[in-house]
Amino acid sequence: MYITTPIYYVNDSPHIGHAYTTVVGDALARYHRLAGHDTWYLTGTDEHGLKVARAATQAGVTPQELVDTVSTQYRDVWDLLDISNDDFIRTTEARHRTGVQAFLEALNASGDVYLDRYEGLYCVSCEDYYKEEDLLEGGLCPIHKRAVEQYSEENYFFRLSAYGDALLAHIEANPDFVYPRTRRNEVVGFIKQGLEDFSISRSALDWGIPIPWDDRQVTYVWVEALMNYVTAIGYGHDDAAFDSRWPAVHLVGKDILRFHAVIWPAMLMAAGLEPPRQIAAHGWLLVGGAKMSKTALNQIAPAELVETFGVDGYRYHFLRDVSFGPDGNFSWEGMVDRYNADLANDLGNLANRVFSMVGRYRSGSVPAVQGSTESDERLRAAAAGALEALGGLARYDFPESLLGVWRLFGAANAYVEDNAPWALAKNPDDAGRLDEVLNALLEALRVGAILISPVMPAIAHRLWEQLGLPGRADTAPYTETAAFDVFPAQTVPGGDPLFPRIDT
Ligand code: MSP
Repeated sequence: MYITTPIYYVNDSPHIGHAYTTVVGDALARYHRLAGHDTWYLTGTDEHGLKVARAATQAGVTPQELVDTVSTQYRDVWDLLDISNDDFIRTTEARHRTGVQAFLEALNASGDVYLDRYEGLYCVSCEDYYKEEDLLEGGLCPIHKRAVEQYSEENYFFRLSAYGDALLAHIEANPDFVYPRTRRNEVVGFIKQGLEDFSISRSALDWGIPIPWDDRQVTYVWVEALMNYVTAIGYGHDDAAFDSRWPAVHLVGKDILRFHAVIWPAMLMAAGLEPPRQIAAHGWLLVGGAKMSKTALNQIAPAELVETFGVDGYRYHFLRDVSFGPDGNFSWEGMVDRYNADLANDLGNLANRVFSMVGRYRSGSVPAVQGSTESDERLRAAAAGALEALGGLARYDFPESLLGVWRLFGAANAYVEDNAPWALAKNPDDAGRLDEVLNALLEALRVGAILISPVMPAIAHRLWEQLGLPGRADTAPYTETAAFDVFPAQTVPGGDPLFPRIDT
């Protein structure tokens, strides 16, 4: 599994919209590692182009100074959010430049690159051309609501128009190539309207990668940005590494679907490479019903939420409450409610109760014995259901998958009520049953720790340590390690509450 996020523009600081894609990718990557799949997770920063060059001018610094500063902000925020990326690509790195130039040579060799004059309306924020009829009233870009600029220059073009049939055939043969279905239909509709050739260079700008055969032109920022997905894994400098990783699953926002599902696969085909494995597009995260933007002053930085909810509370909320595909609305109240209900109550209280009973009734150590009452069977069935539900992560069914995993905690809380350990503890004849009950509860927490690890890696590990287990919660393959069995007889240290309640 080779999973990528978009590379983020460094004209803007990271906000929870950018973090959404990266957290989704991280849960996916951690899930695949947990399943025992060879996994590689890539993210990075998109550092060339007019938009970045202008942002530097406005900030009164050189482009290099700006990109160094903001790229570091991205790295820091991914550290804060426990993102397990295997690599971080910056498009100003030498390996990227080498790979881009090799890719351009391959494109040129296909015979589908030619020189022509371009005239059009350009949105610098999108780094993209628009047709007059696609603009809002007053000639504004539909995404950024800013004025577009009239451009006219000599550029190299890629003959995208020649690839429509090949793209449609590929989409037809690979139903999940563009996910979800609605996005696939959108892409098919767009291709069927007929594709226009596409400018791949810029002459009025020098903050970019020179076209190898014409140093008066730099590569169009979108073209070189897309190439990060292959240059980062070795294209043009380490063929063996490239062959072992490609093709990728690209996670993208809906606004950049066409670049990924139309232009990029066509460029790959022209260069003689396999298309991506999949392009999975999500909606926007809205704040107060609007897309976050600098101008709307509604951007939220992940650190502002992590301060209150912790990194795992943060990750859980965006995966549990935002469906992958449609737009989702962020609300503080919704986040507090979710945290208190699922984390502080269902999971946090369960762990508290179990640790305190194991300490009080058994001085921290429970024999390895299993019960076989109906109540035991129900708990075991819930654990099997949770194990099954986790597989939904691989299909982008994040809320459904987590709901399924949480049924285990619900079942364990019901099991406590059904078996009333406090009553068993009063009667010496019930000592054997009390051992079985406490063992089953510890086992439910052990299984739970493994199952939450893709989404809440830090808490999973903390719970694991509180259970006194050796190693880590995220050991593959989870289908075996998270199968409900008997909890080993050993000391259970317990510890501080995992999720202190948040007062509203
Ligand atoms: N640099 C290009 C991507 C090049 S990939 C070869 C770019 N960068 S971006 O920083 O503007 O956006 C990166 C990603 O963040 C996109 O997938 C975009 O959809 C996502 N998001 C930015 N704001 C968002 C929200 N408010 N909500 C969800 N995702 C959003 O485009």
